[in-house]
Amino acid sequence: MKILITGANGFLGYYLVKQLLEKGIYVIATGKGDGRLPFSYHSNFIYREMDFTDPFRVQDVFKEINPDVVIHSGAMSKPDECELKKWEAYLVNVEGTLSVLLNAAEYKSHFIFLSTDFVFDGEKGMYAEDDVVNPVNYYGKTKLEAEDAVKEYEHDWTIVRTITVYGKTHSGRASFPELIKEKLLKGESYQIFNDQFRTPTYVEDLCSGIISIIRKKAIGIYHLSGTDILTPYQMALRVAAYLNADSSQLRHVTASEFSQPAARPKKTGFKIEKARRELDFSPIGFNEGLKKTLE
Ligand SMILES: NC(=O)c1ccc[n+]([C@@H]2O[C@H](COP(=O)([O-])OP(=O)(O)OC[C@H]3O[C@@H](n4cnc5c(N)ncnc54)[C@H](OP(=O)(O)O)[C@@H]3O)[C@@H](O)[C@H]2O)c1
Repeated sequence: MKILITGANGFLGYYLVKQLLEKGIYVIATGKGDGRLPFSYHSNFIYREMDFTDPFRVQDVFKEINPDVVIHSGAMSKPDECELKKWEAYLVNVEGTLSVLLNAAEYKSHFIFLSTDFVFDGEKGMYAEDDVVNPVNYYGKTKLEAEDAVKEYEHDWTIVRTITVYGKTHSGRASFPELIKEKLLKGESYQIFNDQFRTPTYVEDLCSGIISIIRKKAIGIYHLSGTDILTPYQMALRVAAYLNADSSQLRHVTASEFSQPAARPKKTGFKIEKARRELDFSPIGFNEGLKKTLE
């Protein structure tokens, strides 16, 4: 089986490639520019430069690879950046997805799309797969428009929605617990929201869920997240407790006190019964995830 991953240089990409290689699967990692993954030594690994907003490049890579499965993980993933650069966000998150979808259709690949809790407005919280979507920011809107395109795909498709993914970072921006650790160790004061609820997801759990989707050929929408319902401030306090650090420099704020370019949904969080039942998805708790992230 050949699996092509887009945005493979990103945070999730690293773990997806690693877990798939560990399972003996042939992986074609693609990303913008040079490969930044440390797996070139592996005989089941190849890297191809593929900016998926370039339809000709996508066509060439798909023609060469003919993938059985495509995991479309690449995206403009920072909500504030999407809000400030709407045109670019649309190009990457919507048109880029269309380009990958069109080419995947040629080879009848199983198309797996990474989406987000930000397709919901956060008024209700603890969302199931069939709950009503209503994004409150541009990032969420672009991901939802891409989801709608995926639903029109004529072959097997799966939409994986996830929330606040964390774990040890191997390159790029630090994940939330690592950022808090850095602030605590430097003794810097830091303002953190205490009025937004999430169910943070340990990155290796997310990968296991995706691999189960591939193995079982699970089709449709799946919510994959952790189970602890926490605000970012509560997550930060857990980091401080794990490190035995003084948490007094962590200051809790509300959305009304601290504005950001992109609005955030107040309470997301997922019901994951469908994933438990159909994928044997069994995520670890936040404290255990912190240990794996910070040890
Ligand atoms: N992390 C989370 O908390 C979270 C939560 C919900 C959903 N998601 C979704 O999960 C997926 C993976 O997230 P992540 O945390 O791994 O994000 P990430 O670290 O930002 O990775 C995204 C990758 O996509 C690449 N990319 C952007 N535009 C591209 C293009 N035109 N062509 C090729 N590659 C392109 C980026 O390249 P560069 O590195 O060169 O910029 C980056 O490597 C995304 O679809 C995101 O929306 C993530």
